Amino acid sequence: MTVRIGVIGTGMIGQDHIRRLTHVLAGGEVVAVTDTDAARAKEVAGNLKAAKACGTGQEVIDDPNVDAVLVTSWGPSHEEYVTAAIKAGKFVFCEKPLATTEQACLNILEAEVAHGKRLVQVGFMRRYDHAYRALKRTIESGEIGAPLMMTSGHRNPSVPGHYTSDMAIVDTAVHDIDIARWLLDDEISETLVIKPRQNARGGELHDPLMTILRMRGGALVNIETSVNIEYGYDIRGEIVGETGVATIAESNAVVVKTKGMFSGRVPEDWRERFIRAYDVELQEWLDATSKGTVQGPSTWDGYAATVATDAGLVALKSGAWAPVTMRDKPSLYA
Ligand SMILES: NC(=O)c1ccc[n+]([C@@H]2O[C@H](COP(=O)([O-])OP(=O)(O)OC[C@H]3O[C@@H](n4cnc5c(N)ncnc54)[C@H](O)[C@@H]3O)[C@@H](O)[C@H]2O)c1
Repeated sequence: MTVRIGVIGTGMIGQDHIRRLTHVLAGGEVVAVTDTDAARAKEVAGNLKAAKACGTGQEVIDDPNVDAVLVTSWGPSHEEYVTAAIKAGKFVFCEKPLATTEQACLNILEAEVAHGKRLVQVGFMRRYDHAYRALKRTIESGEIGAPLMMTSGHRNPSVPGHYTSDMAIVDTAVHDIDIARWLLDDEISETLVIKPRQNARGGELHDPLMTILRMRGGALVNIETSVNIEYGYDIRGEIVGETGVATIAESNAVVVKTKGMFSGRVPEDWRERFIRAYDVELQEWLDATSKGTVQGPSTWDGYAATVATDAGLVALKSGAWAPVTMRDKPSLYA
């Protein structure tokens, strides 16, 4: 069965997902798009075989030809569209964040619980990266014993001028936060954000930042967020267990040895590093949707990430540990 998809938000990631749904993946077809920038939506639809440009997101969701919805608009609009898709009983893939406030996440969660069946997947694509999946399998195999500590590094060569210190937590470290919850299979109990000596390349920006998560089971996660580090886009991950250590390997395919040196390519940006993860993420979503199920990061995971980044913002301001307080987990997400 071909899943007919409506896309809300035809900006950068929306267009990238439309490209992969159209040219890379199997089992899906984009049939409707919309954007507050109507001209952009029209142009995107015009480049597709059988897609129409709709005036609003609600029109996309209500369209009987749309089986499932992809929300790739700006974060503050996610709540409205994800909730409307749930009300319409349609599967919805929502790019991160699920929503920008804890209350908006709870509203989505309550709507899905009331519906009685999972419909929502959140775009935490690192869970689909081959290296993180190998790390998860290693932990689950028991090979390194119980995980005690994790080091997670997110390094960007540079960021645009509008990037703020808050964004280092909400937009950047959020991926490390989700992957730590997933790898350690645990929730966060509190967080501390420490400011090292500032990188002069970042101006006023608190860069780098070190965010520490204390998990409920006691494990500690140390997240380095460096967003002006020039040399490349470098994602690091290491788990220290009771009897061993597991580390994400370098992502380059070839090591060059010449003139007494060895070297390998560092990815230029997140698209290069995670291109396969995005493909696998959306392919698995399509496969599950066509079978009437959803398996990826849930509304609960989206809610947990927003609560943790909210606490991170508090910790960034106060310099003290901030508690991460969550409601009880509904059985739908057990
Ligand atoms: N998973 C990831 O690694 C990843 C990477 C990039 C972006 N994202 C997320 O994807 C979302 C979009 O990011 P982007 O980089 O594509 O931004 P963007 O600004 O390039 O595109 C967003 C688009 O949404 C449209 N839009 C805004 N409000 C809307 C509304 N109410 N209804 C319909 N359209 C609306 C804008 O006009 C724009 O075209 C964000 O939530 C972002 O955090 C996730």
